[in-house]
Amino acid sequence: MVFVMNEKHQLETVLDEVREFSPSKEFRAKATISSFDDYRGMYEESIKNPDAFWSKIAEELHWFKKWDKTSNGDDKPVFKWFENGRTNISYNCVDRHLESSFRNKAAIVWEGEPGDHRILTYWDLSREVNKFANVLKKLGVEHGDRVIIYLPMIPDLAISMLACARIGAVHSVIFAGFSSESIKDRVLDCQAKLVITADGSWRRGNVLQLKSIVDKAIQNCDCVKDVIVIQRKPGSSFPCQIQAGRDHWYHRLVDGVSMNCPAEELDSEDMLFLLYTSGTTGKPKGVVHTTGGYMVYTYATAKYVFDLKPEDMFWCTADIGWITGHSYFVYGPLLNGATCLMYEGAPDWPDRGRVWDLIERYGATILYTAPTLIRAFMKWGNEWPAKYDLSTLRLLGTVGEPINPEAWMWYHETIGEGKCPIVDTWWQTETGGIMITPLPGCTVTKPGSATLPFFGIDADVLNEDGQSSQAGILAIKKPWPGMLRGIYGDPQRFKESYWSKWPDIYFPGDGAKKDANGYFWILGRIDDVVNVSGHRIGTAELESVFVEHEAIAESAVIGVEHEIKGQGLVAFVTAKDGYEVSNDLEIELKDWVTEKIGKFAVPERIIFSADLPKTRSGKIMRRLLRDIADGKALGNVATLADAGVLDALKAKYEED
Ligand code: PRX
Repeated sequence: MVFVMNEKHQLETVLDEVREFSPSKEFRAKATISSFDDYRGMYEESIKNPDAFWSKIAEELHWFKKWDKTSNGDDKPVFKWFENGRTNISYNCVDRHLESSFRNKAAIVWEGEPGDHRILTYWDLSREVNKFANVLKKLGVEHGDRVIIYLPMIPDLAISMLACARIGAVHSVIFAGFSSESIKDRVLDCQAKLVITADGSWRRGNVLQLKSIVDKAIQNCDCVKDVIVIQRKPGSSFPCQIQAGRDHWYHRLVDGVSMNCPAEELDSEDMLFLLYTSGTTGKPKGVVHTTGGYMVYTYATAKYVFDLKPEDMFWCTADIGWITGHSYFVYGPLLNGATCLMYEGAPDWPDRGRVWDLIERYGATILYTAPTLIRAFMKWGNEWPAKYDLSTLRLLGTVGEPINPEAWMWYHETIGEGKCPIVDTWWQTETGGIMITPLPGCTVTKPGSATLPFFGIDADVLNEDGQSSQAGILAIKKPWPGMLRGIYGDPQRFKESYWSKWPDIYFPGDGAKKDANGYFWILGRIDDVVNVSGHRIGTAELESVFVEHEAIAESAVIGVEHEIKGQGLVAFVTAKDGYEVSNDLEIELKDWVTEKIGKFAVPERIIFSADLPKTRSGKIMRRLLRDIADGKALGNVATLADAGVLDALKAKYEED
């Protein structure tokens, strides 16, 4: 087995960790689940009788027509949930609350990077979602049509998603850090009919020209009939081109539109969204989530994992362009009637106190963020959080990558002042929602462990043969409502990626270890996916970008440990004959990656080499490149075609 993470180091850390933390009496007193026996009881019930368990939770939500069968695996590996049920997630996120005391409660509390702000109550959200849905209809968007959303973190992002969901259109949100090329690939893959974007967005005091990125992306995409452009700053536009007939300012389209658009009664298995993520091949995959199961699962996980209370101010810092933002900024919290804090810009703008300043001013009670940001905060120094009153915080969460115990302890002591439980939540784009996690009112936590499975999740650690073992590969042995239903347009890849390792068992691609208490310790990806700052990047995807460049003949990309990002990327490249290897070429290649994927995918280091280590059959030996990067002694190189290549590379790697 190949652990891309530094396996040995991780295992040692895990084996050494003996600290344990119990939820405080105060937290427990108000928690939805405050006794571990209750968790155990509910968990056992959920595994023994999943249909009854999930039915009961689903009944807390609104259904136009009740389902006939809770789960159906006739068509494995595709499972159906709440079969023949009719519902609408937008209705459940918005309309359901209008009949309750939440009607005038804040749903989204937003602050832009320059400090502008907006608060939308559930009533306001309903009005905006209804109007947006009517605008989509006006442009001819219908049930099943794919809509690309390329927006910054502004309320319109959540509104447009809910508007699509309201009429049964499939949204595919693209993180606003992706390049034109990446947008183009996604637009073409899903044959999107419409793109929603903004004229710009603020990032570290600069304006990001989103509309021009979209213009470049779709110039040859005939499937796109219309582009909706939202003014980032109402009343004044950033300069951008509006192509007559295709592009429309949203504020003009919405003028005079009715604020009443009844939610479509959708089938449980109607597609809700596509979200592209990296895999082990060169092409990102469109992960398919459907309506009913995803709704019930995000509702339940948000309710229990974040122990949501009506008075909470919940801040999930993830961009909505990633799954975390889908499930725990938009759907999970809104299904629960929560108040969500939303922030547009960079965490260190105008200074490194911005996050703490936001928590103090808005009285955030729950902070859900990524280890990479926690490590950056640690580096920036305790003086920043110390300037602010963080006493409103009652619960902390992390997601996206393994958290090292040191960062966990810092989060616990410096931010949580020792009183806030930490929920380290393991899950994936594909799982739809949180899978392995503490429940904050009852689970004893251990720094670095995601602890125990959520209700209905039959998780285990298996060896290659599918036998339960202490260290090995994480596996999910039973279906769950939030599971992906497929990869858009590629059923074969769906089967091969997730269901071919062991029969009828979901293979997530992570290495893991289980301790004597049955706690899970996630060790990182075991496939060719690198987790950079919690963002998944396929090494094959990056390699194909390099060889598309005219100067590059070959490339091999690996993940290496990184102090802040968790993992960083190192690319080994071979230039074609006639091209000079220079600093300029390195800069050009970095720009090339930015252009092809986005800045976040640019490797830390690009190492030029006259050759790459290969087997006699011509396969690049990435394991040896990893050994070089880890500073390990180079082991068995007998299968190498030319052993001299390695020494030269090693010397080069260590040179700078
Ligand atoms: O390797 C695991 C890591 O992130 C991967 C999923 O990435 P993505 O689909 O982008 O979703 C990220 C947000 C849910 C997983 O395969 N991962 C996620 N959460 C954790 C984690 N690794 C360790 N601990 C976690 N809490």
